[in-house]
Amino acid sequence: MTMQNVLNELRDRPGTGEVIPIINPATEEQIAEFKDCGPEAVNEAVARAKQAFEAGVWAGLPARERAKIMWRIADLIDEHADELARIDSLNTGMPLVQATLGLSNCAEFFRYHAGWCTKINGNAFDIKTAGIASDAWVDMHTYTRKEPYSVVGLIFPWNGPIFNACAKLAPALAAGCSMVVKPAEETPLSALLLMRLITQAGVPEGVVNLLTGYGHTAGAAITAHPDVEKVAFTGSTEIGKEIVHAAAGNLKKVALELGGKSPVLIYDDADLRKAIVTAAMGIFVHSGQGCVCGSRIFAQRGVYEQVVEGIAAVANKMKLGSPDEDGCASGPLISAKQLTRVLGYIDEGKSGGVEIITGGYRLDRKGYFVHPTVLTNVDPGMRLYQEEIFGPVVTITPFDDDEAIAMANDTTYGLAAAAWTNDLSRAHRLGKRLHAGTVSINCQLVFDHAVPFGGYKQSGWGYEHGHEGIASYLKTKSVWAQI
Ligand code: NAI
Ligand code: MG
Repeated sequence: MTMQNVLNELRDRPGTGEVIPIINPATEEQIAEFKDCGPEAVNEAVARAKQAFEAGVWAGLPARERAKIMWRIADLIDEHADELARIDSLNTGMPLVQATLGLSNCAEFFRYHAGWCTKINGNAFDIKTAGIASDAWVDMHTYTRKEPYSVVGLIFPWNGPIFNACAKLAPALAAGCSMVVKPAEETPLSALLLMRLITQAGVPEGVVNLLTGYGHTAGAAITAHPDVEKVAFTGSTEIGKEIVHAAAGNLKKVALELGGKSPVLIYDDADLRKAIVTAAMGIFVHSGQGCVCGSRIFAQRGVYEQVVEGIAAVANKMKLGSPDEDGCASGPLISAKQLTRVLGYIDEGKSGGVEIITGGYRLDRKGYFVHPTVLTNVDPGMRLYQEEIFGPVVTITPFDDDEAIAMANDTTYGLAAAAWTNDLSRAHRLGKRLHAGTVSINCQLVFDHAVPFGGYKQSGWGYEHGHEGIASYLKTKSVWAQI
């Protein structure tokens, strides 16, 4: 399927709502447009998914057959990795090498979860219970069954379109769910090709239903739908809260992977060279548009100056550009909306007296490029210090040893935290005391399909990946049989 086929397919998708343009963020040119599918399409898609679930065309297959089909999806993703990477890098502006690197993780989502298909089991209990009519003990054979949610709604953002799609589709398929799937309105392209591959691999009709539209239309309709049993969402904390409200109608289960304002602590005794380069990439990669980006760096007083200089030096060396320019370390922000938002935070800093060590401006060229920005002398009360910016903007604050953990934890978010130190005891103390779903010690941006990922505080509900990830698509039923 060539790029042109994907663009044509999107253009031809039926819809009843507004026309939504897709803009290449590196050039600001329109590359496609499509019609918002509208709420009626959501009703139809949910009905198809429900029918497929009730017919047992997927959940009713032998687990090993589901697993084989999931392996086939992984192989097809590998075969089409080039096209998928090209589509995502055109659509998001991220460098092609980065998009390509991400693709092996996408295929692995299906392989890892294919393994789970044959390992979804309940427990058996040997129980004696008190009889109702007499005081004699009654023998019971009691067991749990793990059953898939029938129809799940999968809603995800634009920052890693194909990665986000696979992270949700793979466990939902392994569990046996049927689903409606809504990519971000900015980046629906790679999901179209993924749908083709899923069908080609042998997932039966009606199990996976793609919806293309806005969040406030299609997304909201999915979240409010009485036949959707569960919604799994990745995106902003603001919309996460709206989803919780909308889900109240049928008390659907909700899993949320939300924003972050992740702290990075650099201690005097750290391997400074490694810490500086990694911490800089940990915020500037993908122009800061990652949920786990370390947007608040704290440096112990003895190394503070070196850290500020070092991070600024990396920022100044990073070449920004569009996917077709060679040697770029990062691309543009996704949209004019995000550009305005990010520059708004920077302006707040400028008028509030923060020191701009480097950056702080949009590049003088087409595309939504913002120079990697390093800010110091930031008042902790400022919005830019409290809220997720989702851009290449980092604050650096000095600390004394006894105040570091409290400073790091002083946020409403709790997605990730990192610490750089060669003191073994301190490292493990931090592993325990930092309030975040993921704590990285002497590393950042680490990921594996087997390791659970989720947010503390307002960074989310529930976990993705690993055992917890697959468990979140399964219900537990207890069956009691008197013997
Ligand atoms: P968003 O949270 O509005 O969008 C994410 C997804 O949710 C998209 O598919 C969107 O169509 C959908 N959506 C929007 N409103 C919805 C609703 N009412 N019901 C159901 N689905 C809905 O994120 P947006 O507006 O693109 O970005 C704004 C900010 O959100 C960013 O600056 C960043 O701080 C944060 N964000 C965080 C992400 C993360 O990975 N943690 C990813 C994307 C954005
Ligand atoms: Mg939004």
